[in-house]
Amino acid sequence: MSARFPMLLCLALVFGTGHARSSYAPLLDNGLARTPPLGWNSWNHFHCNVSAQLIRETADAMVSGGLRDAGYEYVVIDDCWQVARDRAGRLVADSARFPGGIKPLADYVHSKGLKFGIYTDAGRLTCQGRPGTYGSEEIDARTFAEWGVDYVKEDWCNSEGLDAPTQYAKFRDALAKARRPIVFSICEWGSNQPWEWGPRTGNLWRTTGDIGDRWASMIAILDLSSQHGHAASPGAWNDPDMLEVGNGGMTDDEYRAHFSLWAVMAAPLMAGNDVRTMTAVTRDMLTNKEVIAVDQDSLGVQGMLVQEPAPDLQVWSKPLADGSRAVVLLNRSGLQTVVTASWRALGVRGSARVRDLWTHSDVGAMTDRFNATVPAHGVVMVRITPSLEAGRN
Ligand code: GLA
Repeated sequence: MSARFPMLLCLALVFGTGHARSSYAPLLDNGLARTPPLGWNSWNHFHCNVSAQLIRETADAMVSGGLRDAGYEYVVIDDCWQVARDRAGRLVADSARFPGGIKPLADYVHSKGLKFGIYTDAGRLTCQGRPGTYGSEEIDARTFAEWGVDYVKEDWCNSEGLDAPTQYAKFRDALAKARRPIVFSICEWGSNQPWEWGPRTGNLWRTTGDIGDRWASMIAILDLSSQHGHAASPGAWNDPDMLEVGNGGMTDDEYRAHFSLWAVMAAPLMAGNDVRTMTAVTRDMLTNKEVIAVDQDSLGVQGMLVQEPAPDLQVWSKPLADGSRAVVLLNRSGLQTVVTASWRALGVRGSARVRDLWTHSDVGAMTDRFNATVPAHGVVMVRITPSLEAGRN
C-alpha cells in the first residue's frame, strides 16, 4: 500500500472536514454494527401490508436466494405491525396479521440464522398513526428485548415540540437498560443534524427524507448524505435510506449505480424489495460479494467524491483496510461516455492493479489513470490496489 496514504487520510480526517469528532461526546459503545448493517426492511415495497407470513417467507427466501450467505442479517418489520397498548402498557401486535404476537416470529427468524428487527416512533404516534414510544421508552425497550428483537428503527413522526437528541438518548438508555444487544437505527430524516449527536446515540441515523424508487431521488440523497462522511466510523453510520434495488422504478444500470454508491458510502444495505419473487438480475446485484465487501470493509471510512472530470461525471473513492481503494466512476448524464479517474485525485502513486467489481475480472495494471466507458445513469466500479513498489516511492 502507498506509505503516504494513511498520512493523507489522517490529514483529511483532522483538517479536511472541519468537524473533528473530538468535539463530540464519545461514540455509543454498544459494540454493535461495527460494519454497516445488512438486511431487509418491509417498508419500501410493502408499506403497511406486513404480516408474520410475509416475514417468514422473506426469511426463507433470504436463505434460499443466497442473501443470508452474502451477509444479509437483519429482517426488519417497519411500520403498521402494532395496533394498541394493553393494560400493562405493552405494545400489542395486530392479531390478524401476527397471530401469536411477535415473539414466535422473532424465534422463526432466528431459527433461519438471521436476526430480527422492528420499528417504532419517538413521538406519540408512528407515521401511519400507530402507537408511538413517547413516554413508554422503558417498557417498549423491555418488551422488544423480551421478544428477541435485535434491531430497532425509531422514527420521528408526531414529535412536535420534542427535542430529537433528548428523545433518542432516552431510548438509547432504555435499550441499554433492557440488557439485550439491539442495533439502534435513528430515523429523523436528517432534520436535526443527527450527524452531530447520532454517533453517541445510535448505530445509524438517516441523513435525508425518504428515498423514492427513481434515479433523481437516489442521486439527490447521494449528494446530501455524502456531506457527512466525517461522522461515520465503525459502529456509527450515516443512513441514506433503504435500497430500492429490484422495485421496478429504475433501470438495471441505475440500480447497479444505487447499490455501488451505497457501498462506497459505507451505507447500511437494507434491501427493500420482494425477495420472494426477485429476478435473477436483482438477486445477483444484491449478492455481489465484491461490492458488499467494499461496504463492509473493516476500516469503516465513508467514501467521498474526489474528482469531477466533466459536468455530470464523477469519481467516488473509499479507502479500504488493505491499502486499496474502491472507486466508482459515475455517469449522471443520459448518454454513455468515457470517465477517467486520475491517480492524483485518488492519492495513488505509480502502478496499481485494477479489478472490475461488476464483471469480476482483473482489468490489468495501470499507471496514472483508469478510463472506462460508463453507461448513461450508470457506474463502473473497480478496486484499485497500488503495487508494493509504488508504496515505497
Ligand atoms: C417514515 C420513514 C420511512 C418509513 C415510514 C413508515 O416515512 O422515514 O422509512 O419507516 O415512515 O411509516
